[in-house]
Amino acid sequence: MRRRVFLLLSGAGAFLSQMVRPLLARSAQLPAVPQTKTVSQAIAVARGVDVGSVAQLSKSGQVLVRTSALGPLLVIRDPATQKLKAVNPTCPHRGCLVDWIASSDNFLCPCHQARFNANGRWIGGQPVNRPLESYKVTVSNGRILVSKG
Ligand code: FES
Repeated sequence: MRRRVFLLLSGAGAFLSQMVRPLLARSAQLPAVPQTKTVSQAIAVARGVDVGSVAQLSKSGQVLVRTSALGPLLVIRDPATQKLKAVNPTCPHRGCLVDWIASSDNFLCPCHQARFNANGRWIGGQPVNRPLESYKVTVSNGRILVSKG
């Protein structure tokens, strides 16, 4: 009887180890879990990322932040509506950073000349498969806050 129980348990153990082995091997191949945002980054994203002052925007015509909790951000004042607009300036074609060209009221990619309107929608030049990502902009105490809409 004891021998029978031993054989049954060892057989079950061998069976289970064969079942678990592929799972362990697979978990070793999984990509690293991306780092989560810190609490302060999460709060900044929820409140809106402070990219600068309205005075700074008025003086220079655009505010570019290359690194933020939302990624790169470019804020301009839409000449048609006078509203502030924020986009991720990373061109959807091959990733160059677009510039705001105030004289023609559009974003221009310096690499292959894709052009986008103030809302980030493609309007000419190198075709791309999606618009520039745009964000919600609010102003608080003269500061420009950008958040996901
Ligand atoms: Fe912008 Fe090619 S990278 S048009």
